[in-house]
Amino acid sequence: MKDFKGMPVLNAGLLAAAQAVEHYEISRYGTLSTWAEELGYAEAVDLLEATLQEEKNTDKTLTGIAKSVVNVEAEQDEAEDG
Ligand SMILES: [Fe+2]
Repeated sequence: MKDFKGMPVLNAGLLAAAQAVEHYEISRYGTLSTWAEELGYAEAVDLLEATLQEEKNTDKTLTGIAKSVVNVEAEQDEAEDG
């Protein structure tokens, strides 16, 4: 991070790392929800599905930010610097 301090590519990298966390969470909450459903824990299924949807929404938001701002700025900076 020190090497890229103040550079747009750092934001692109941080955003990619944040999305990797969201993908991990989506995987885990999806699995837990399925298990809860199979075990008949309806209340847990509701909570896990709600959380799963929140994680998916966050992932979608991060994708939007990446495509509209962060990656664009990083690409422009790279093009300017060569
Ligand atoms: Fe999350």
